[in-house]
Amino acid sequence: MNFSATLLNWFKINKRCLPWRETNDAYAIWLSEVILQQTRIAQGMSYWERFMTQWPTVNELAAATEDDVLRAWQGLGYYSRARNLHKAAQQVVKLGGFPQNFKDLKTLKGVGDYTAAAIASIAFNEAVAVVDGNVYRVLSRHFGINTPIDSTEGKKVFQTLAQSLIPINDPANYNEAIMDFGAIQCTPASPLCLTCPLCKSCIAYREQRINELPIKSKKVKQRKRHLTYIYIEHEGKIAIHQRGAGDIWQGLWELPHADLLTSTSNSLSNKEDILTKEAILLKKDIKHVLTHQILLADLYLWQPDVRPLLPSDFIWIEKSCIDKYALPRLIEMLLEEIPD
Ligand code: ADE
Repeated sequence: MNFSATLLNWFKINKRCLPWRETNDAYAIWLSEVILQQTRIAQGMSYWERFMTQWPTVNELAAATEDDVLRAWQGLGYYSRARNLHKAAQQVVKLGGFPQNFKDLKTLKGVGDYTAAAIASIAFNEAVAVVDGNVYRVLSRHFGINTPIDSTEGKKVFQTLAQSLIPINDPANYNEAIMDFGAIQCTPASPLCLTCPLCKSCIAYREQRINELPIKSKKVKQRKRHLTYIYIEHEGKIAIHQRGAGDIWQGLWELPHADLLTSTSNSLSNKEDILTKEAILLKKDIKHVLTHQILLADLYLWQPDVRPLLPSDFIWIEKSCIDKYALPRLIEMLLEEIPD
């Protein structure tokens, strides 16, 4: 039996039961693929269910406000996915329905090669191969490919190989099979080679190079950033503001940064005095790891007698109403440190 047939057989037995696998609805499938791009299935499942309950069709999602979509996305991170999802839903409505092939799907906001291939194959049975992290790992090991997966050449090599392996009569199952196989059997660390149906033909297994493959040429450089936030509370209200355009937290709400105190607040105190004499340091170095940055945040609690003047984009809200605002994960983590 060849590689693809073996994988399909493996899938018959090991397929994961996932709710978006019970439907051909392109909207439901698209939503699952966008959620799963940077999120594990165990975490993504409840979000998918919540979105499908709140907005059962693409028309309903398109009619939502961006704020509502961001709030429903809260906790998943990489919020550009949610903003693109919302914009793409509006594109779909304008088009009068979902594009039904790989090429047209790519015209949707946030839909790249991977997502278009997943939707085209799973919802519309088009024989186009998906290439995600699982696919890179399975193919590089099985076929013993040393080309770095993050190089231009690597992308071509793996895309071409993946495309040559897809059975045209069953692209949907094949694509899901190779992704499940990567997630369950051919895992990054400690893959289950002893029970693997492909181990006889696996080059990495034969040459004991499982731990070396796939090869990446570049290491992601992570910059450390120190941030200081202040939870300013006055008469049961707290100050927050919405992030503007052009960054990863665009549209999300945030606590004030300490830098703000240099130019604002009450004239009686300067920033250093507020931080050292008036505010309480609740926690230092709360760590939040993003793809390119490691954020280390200090959190102060300041309860001034007089409500400080803040820049005009700040609003004062009841402490208890913070749940109504979409917050970055880091801000949620800071709020967990606030005493009741
Ligand atoms: N990861 C992302 N999408 C997937 C899918 N459709 N099947 C298995 N794993 C996935």
